[in-house]
Amino acid sequence: MTELAELHARHVLTPWIAQGGFRAPVLVRGEGSSLFDETGKKYLDAGSGLVAVNLGHSHPAVAKAIADQAHTLCYSSPAWFNDKRAILAEKLSKMSPWDEGARVFFTTGGAESNDDMVRIVRALTGRSKILTAYRSYHGASGQSIELTGEDRRWTGEAHGGAGVIRFFAPYPYRSPFFATTPEEECERALAQLERIVMHESPNRIGALLIEPIVGSNGVVVYPAGYLEGLRALCTKYGILLVFDEVMTGFGRTGAAFAGERHGVVPDLIVFAKGVTSAYVPLGGVMIRESLAKTFDDRPLPNGHTYSGHPLAVAAGVATLEAYEAGGIFARARDVLEPKIRAGLEALAAKHEIIGEVRGMGAFFALELVKDRATKEPFVPWADAKSAAPMKAFFGALRERGVYTFGRFNCVMFAPPLVVTEAELDFGFEAYDHALTVLANG
Ligand SMILES: Cc1ncc(COP(=O)(O)O)c(C=O)c1O
Repeated sequence: MTELAELHARHVLTPWIAQGGFRAPVLVRGEGSSLFDETGKKYLDAGSGLVAVNLGHSHPAVAKAIADQAHTLCYSSPAWFNDKRAILAEKLSKMSPWDEGARVFFTTGGAESNDDMVRIVRALTGRSKILTAYRSYHGASGQSIELTGEDRRWTGEAHGGAGVIRFFAPYPYRSPFFATTPEEECERALAQLERIVMHESPNRIGALLIEPIVGSNGVVVYPAGYLEGLRALCTKYGILLVFDEVMTGFGRTGAAFAGERHGVVPDLIVFAKGVTSAYVPLGGVMIRESLAKTFDDRPLPNGHTYSGHPLAVAAGVATLEAYEAGGIFARARDVLEPKIRAGLEALAAKHEIIGEVRGMGAFFALELVKDRATKEPFVPWADAKSAAPMKAFFGALRERGVYTFGRFNCVMFAPPLVVTEAELDFGFEAYDHALTVLANG
């Protein structure tokens, strides 16, 4: 390992892992769908960082917008107005699914946005409980880690998440409802959820928060009708429906937001990542106008020094303009989705260890199994100590010049939305090799 890698390992704490012995390439440059380490080695970014760099690396218009803003105004208090902040909020309102429009509270990322969303929901409804799914990730701050359903919540959990009620959402491949068809899965999931709502008292539940497609926990696409069913349930009981579009937003699924691809309209949208293609930290909560106007007469219960930071919102304006100019969302739907699905299905035809290929747009995962018939996971879910065999897969990919990430037996394939078809083929070949290495132990 290089001197810089040693320096990094010595002084930087890397998220989620035991630090000892961990080393990774030191990335110094990016261009399009490629990353370069300090030795000049090139990698295909098949994970868009953490499914965030939707526009690809170093887009010149966004880089210029950030530089121009840095030379003009680097900081302005959120208590006064700012030009780029206004322009970005209007663009987001127009992009939102609401004809009535939206207002935006800006933050610096996904976790903070979910924290703020909870305070906003409680202020709007006077109800404290929040429903979230078990197989979900909503961030790692004090509140958002409690909203998170999956195992990352266990690490250091101290408080147990007062007011957070969890439910099982559909997962047709490993049905928690013993269902045999997606229709049955959908029906049973909704019926059980309504029971939970009744037991928790509907008029104490402020919101139901859900990733419209499960993200880091293996890209689970919900069966047709499920999100519609959630919409109907929430409307019936006066519960606000919140889509966490932090990972799915800004073209990732082939539309501005994943809710759009399912034809379902929430009441609030939490966003981050793709809004600036991750160039500058930015997130936020979008609230439909009819709800947001509540805060015309009552104080908003939220505030941060960096809310609507000029560098971030300037990057956001340029990013949304670049998406539009490049027809990027439609490309993800019409060009990338069929090509990625076909490429990964071809791998599944060859590799028995692929249990399922799932995804939409340029947002896919492979779920790996020991045995297709029993569906035994290739490594157990949520058991970090047993996940070591997966290192062979990621090591082989890295050696072939491909970066991605995964969780336990699920691995991501989610390149920037500007990825070329030749780069995709390069990625499939590398996955083919890494799957062979993994299967051969
Ligand atoms: C769906 C979802 N919500 C929230 C978050 C947290 O965002 P951040 O890491 O910016 O705090 C993530 C991060 O991956 C996410 O995927």
